[in-house]
Amino acid sequence: MLKNQNPTQTQAWAALEAHFQNMQNAQMKDLFAQDADRFNKFSTQFEDILLDYSKNIITEETLEKLVALAKETGVAEGIKAMFAGEKINQTEGRSVLHVALRNQSNTPIMVDGEDVMPAVNAVLAKVENFSNRVSNGDWKGYTGKAITDIVNIGIGGSDLGPLMVTEALKAYKKENLNVHFISNVDGTHVAEVLKPLNPETTLFLIASKTFTTQETMTNANSAKDWFLKAAQEEGHVAKHFAALSTNADGVSAFGIDTENMFEFWDWVGGRYSLWSAIGLSIACAIGFDNYKELLAGAHAMDKHVAETELENNIPVLLALIGIWYNNFFKAESEAILPYDQYLHRFAAYFQQGNMESNGKYIDRNGERVNYETGPIIWGEPGTNGQHAFYQLIHQGTKMIPCDFIAPAISHNPIGDHHPKLLANFFAQTEALMMGKTEEQVKAEFAKAGKSEAEVASLVPFKVFEGNKPTNSILVKQVTPRTLGALIAMYEHKIFVQGVIWNIFSFDQWGVELGKQLANQILPELTNEEAIASHDSSTNGLINAYKAMR
Ligand code: F6P
Repeated sequence: MLKNQNPTQTQAWAALEAHFQNMQNAQMKDLFAQDADRFNKFSTQFEDILLDYSKNIITEETLEKLVALAKETGVAEGIKAMFAGEKINQTEGRSVLHVALRNQSNTPIMVDGEDVMPAVNAVLAKVENFSNRVSNGDWKGYTGKAITDIVNIGIGGSDLGPLMVTEALKAYKKENLNVHFISNVDGTHVAEVLKPLNPETTLFLIASKTFTTQETMTNANSAKDWFLKAAQEEGHVAKHFAALSTNADGVSAFGIDTENMFEFWDWVGGRYSLWSAIGLSIACAIGFDNYKELLAGAHAMDKHVAETELENNIPVLLALIGIWYNNFFKAESEAILPYDQYLHRFAAYFQQGNMESNGKYIDRNGERVNYETGPIIWGEPGTNGQHAFYQLIHQGTKMIPCDFIAPAISHNPIGDHHPKLLANFFAQTEALMMGKTEEQVKAEFAKAGKSEAEVASLVPFKVFEGNKPTNSILVKQVTPRTLGALIAMYEHKIFVQGVIWNIFSFDQWGVELGKQLANQILPELTNEEAIASHDSSTNGLINAYKAMR
């Protein structure tokens, strides 16, 4: 089980607080000037992934003290407990075993005395068979035509993972198959996605762990209506609808043949489910062999996490550096900035992964924490972000630690696009660290022949303090294996932070509240009566809505 320890009451925390007094004004450019070996000391390689964490406000002493915190809060034991299938998702009484879904070593993993691997492998074999039949054109629709379009209907973890990965690996996409995603309950989403599609050649994957989520069931029913309008007969549904779920009863009540149900289990968290049957759309889109490579990459990272001492454990290091900024420098957010268009949903994916996991103010004792927990995660692909929000990262009042991610090799090496993209990547992390001094600005002005008066009035605006921390993650190429490892790296970072913050990272009661509230209000919107059962703002808004429609 996870240790129950307020991190701020450890010896390591007190040592870190004292160390912070010495480090809070440290300048990274001085640290680089003092140590020619800094890049080698603070960078590491995992397969085709190079992680450079030297542009952080850290020294070897900082890392030693952070690792001591990980030791004192039971990180190593926590990792062991997760891999051993212990019920570390205590508030839901569940194991947390996304690592079993990609356990290519096939070693037994026990839950309640039973090895889960045979069931995992059986579903994986079913995914292989189904995805091959669809992508080979052997799976036929109700008029005998091959499938050309797959529509995944899901939300949250049942949408973002497959969406992010199919986008990230678009270079591997099967040419004869297009994949689409419907998530929002806004009718516009289903309407616009279905507009160009042909019901004869469209296959719907209804992705929902619970098979009760309002948004998904509403979209699934509308998709079924759209399909039946053309197909007419209920019997044809079996050829065009499959379910990815833990809820067999819900699936058959919807009218999907349980033969076409791809099962997973309650020990798979929604936001960790792309490795389960929820990944069926990925396997169809990029082919099963590539999907397996994705799992293999994640498994390689799992082995690294499970077998590497904390000092050299990549997700642990990332977690600790994050805690250094979050809890000591009081940074409120972290940006994920992929310099790769294919990774354009990567930040959005980890927005859920991180914020749903560690956005908690109750500790494992059931008490309110007296320290900061999960950060706000955000980001967009570079260079677009540079022309939007980087101004604030460079010259705003907030510290925003950033992860820069880029591939050395582009899947689309057109002209000099890629060197230009990478030049921006390198230049930004350097500029964020080095800044620009008053002397440099003055020298630039002098060179441009500006008058003394002009220089005096403009200098403060052109100075960059620098000292803004970044991690650089340079990968050889965005391949299925590398992407798998990268996703697993962030997943484990989030888990390690949750262990240290003494919170439960695998429930999401905050989201459940929204589900309940919407269901309470929905019946009040069906009639014309004035509503008086809420606070005056909510009543006012509901009544105004009723009057407007
Ligand atoms: O967003 C909250 C959540 O519970 C996520 O954890 C989950 O990924 C999503 O809803 C969808 O749930 P389901 O797969 O059960 O439809």
